[in-house]
Amino acid sequence: MAEALKQVKVSIPATTANLGPGFDCLGLALGLRNEIWMTAVSEPGLTIEVDGEGTGQIPTDAANLAVQAAEHIFELVGKRPSGLHIRQQNDIPISSGLGSSAAATLGGILAANALVDGALTEQQLVELAVSMEGHPDNIVPAFYGGLTLSVMDEDALHVETIAVPPLQVVIVLPDFDLPTAKARAALPAQIPLRDAIFNVSRVGLVIRALERGDFAVLALAMQDQMHQPYRLPLIPGMVDVFEVAKGEGATAVTLSGAGPSVAAFAPANHQAIAEAIQAAFAAAGLPSRAWILPVENTGRVIIDD
Ligand code: HSE
Repeated sequence: MAEALKQVKVSIPATTANLGPGFDCLGLALGLRNEIWMTAVSEPGLTIEVDGEGTGQIPTDAANLAVQAAEHIFELVGKRPSGLHIRQQNDIPISSGLGSSAAATLGGILAANALVDGALTEQQLVELAVSMEGHPDNIVPAFYGGLTLSVMDEDALHVETIAVPPLQVVIVLPDFDLPTAKARAALPAQIPLRDAIFNVSRVGLVIRALERGDFAVLALAMQDQMHQPYRLPLIPGMVDVFEVAKGEGATAVTLSGAGPSVAAFAPANHQAIAEAIQAAFAAAGLPSRAWILPVENTGRVIIDD
């Protein structure tokens, strides 16, 4: 039996990225979390246990995303435990547009850094996670919590965190496979100037609307011409979903990240909105799962067990 030398636990929230017009820059943390326990053990080797979402699909060998992230840290810090045991307890569905890969990447990075007493700064840790993920808009809200705006300057990251009042978000995930890479490949290399103006003007407005909890303004703000027109047709029923959600009182509806989940914002009627969206997906032949989630103002939590 391998002797446990040190154990750390990291908890990371789910995130919804883009928020309509804020492609690759806006993100919001939600009250659904993954937990990862990383233990340095005396006996060489790697063992991984996965419970909850993604069990049976998430690799339990060196291909595991949290392990790959941890390896970057061990390399950078120049220290590694002789053996490693990882336990992942996941509530964030995988391949959903709710930041499960960001949670795994950040979880691996933060747990490994704590395990080997790494001296990397917060900024270095977040930038490493962003470089692994390829875009900042899930990593950054997962790390800081709440609403975040991420601005990349080459590889350097600037973050603004924006306080928002309590808010419930309806999330519905259809049973449909849409890898982020495929959803990104659907986007054109160039967009018309009028579409750029449409989005630029609304990014600022989404921030103002969310920080004021102003649903009427959110209805105008949370629209997009940059990615959703190209992505919605990839998901059966999605165009109808936007309509029925608004019919039940959602003021704003948006693809969550690259999809396939959808996020609806409303001051009330959350359950009815979720049911209407699920019915629209069912009419398109897709079973789905729904959550009503609060905005999560706590980002990552790191505990030395
Ligand atoms: N901004 C990314 C995209 C988020 O829309 O492709 C992926 O979760």
